[in-house]
Amino acid sequence: MKVLVVGGAGYIGSHVVHAFLSAGHDVTVFDNLSSGQLINLVPGTGFIAGDIRHPDDLDAAFSRGFDAFVHLAAFKAVGESMSEPEKYSVNNLSGTINILNAACAHGCKRMVFSSSAAIFGSPQYLPIDEAHPANPESYYGFTKLEIERILAWYDRIRGLRFAALRYFNAAGYDPDGTVLGLESNPQNLLPIIMEVAMGWRKELQIFGNDYDTRDGTCVRDYVHVSDLARAHVLALETIDREDESLTVNLGSETGITVTEMLETAREVTGVEIPARYVDRRPGDPSELYATSAHAKKRIGWEAELSDCKTLISSTWDVYRKHQTAEK
Ligand code: WQD
Repeated sequence: MKVLVVGGAGYIGSHVVHAFLSAGHDVTVFDNLSSGQLINLVPGTGFIAGDIRHPDDLDAAFSRGFDAFVHLAAFKAVGESMSEPEKYSVNNLSGTINILNAACAHGCKRMVFSSSAAIFGSPQYLPIDEAHPANPESYYGFTKLEIERILAWYDRIRGLRFAALRYFNAAGYDPDGTVLGLESNPQNLLPIIMEVAMGWRKELQIFGNDYDTRDGTCVRDYVHVSDLARAHVLALETIDREDESLTVNLGSETGITVTEMLETAREVTGVEIPARYVDRRPGDPSELYATSAHAKKRIGWEAELSDCKTLISSTWDVYRKHQTAEK
């Protein structure tokens, strides 16, 4: 298929591009490079510089004729979404509506949407399945949920068939070393641990060690980004074949604590990685993990690379390539 990957120069997007290319699809990236990077562009892909806030950019892109698109162009910082919701309204909500309108106007009616476990809020039960009530606790999570609802209406009215993929904690890098861009000012646990290991940050602050978990630190479901990327291909092929939309949770089904991640990172890197316990971070649920039984049934997907060591070693390999980079 001829696929447009909107946000394809970002951390997850570039892995998605790689997965589509490996599966034999023809890929073009659309990105404004606000957080995406040219270094992430996989050789063999087309590139369109454009912004989802500008309908004309999208109209020009979709006029080239695509069979399907993947939408990963969103701001994703939970804290920032609570202090600057306007940014998230314009980019995540209006930007998505612009994409949908341009795609439908040009008859492109197959899409994969990058949704998030953030739509669920604090879990009412574990593991989290697709039927778990959606109750986002951040404006970011709200934008993802709202888009899922808009997609259901575009399906009904315009015949747009979509796959909404609710990622749990994306981590890791392509083990083949095709993606090299580091996120600048990362907000998530593993890249922060890596920055400490590299000596770019003084220490890891562990947000709370008095949770009711096996070692007192929070449990999360970290899923390898290459596993996530593969799910996009399977999901698109499924909706195309079945002409029916779908929504699935994507997790590894394995909970890892902050301390376990840190200890494994010390082991893999051979670096001490200074760390210190600090207060809990507001809004952090103690435990979050998914069941991916539905993803297995619906798109034939399960995590393969998401064990703690592979997550860390694949990330460390990329950070080490940046050893001489100035920070
Ligand atoms: C993981 C764990 C922290 C940093 C977020 C979004 C979610 C989804 C995935 C996109 C938590 C602890 C972290 C640090 C720490 N994103 N931690 N010290 O919050 O689980 O999920 O990313 O859709 O919507 O909320 O991820 O990586 O921030 O934190 O102790 O310096 O690491 O408390 O337990 P989170 P995270």
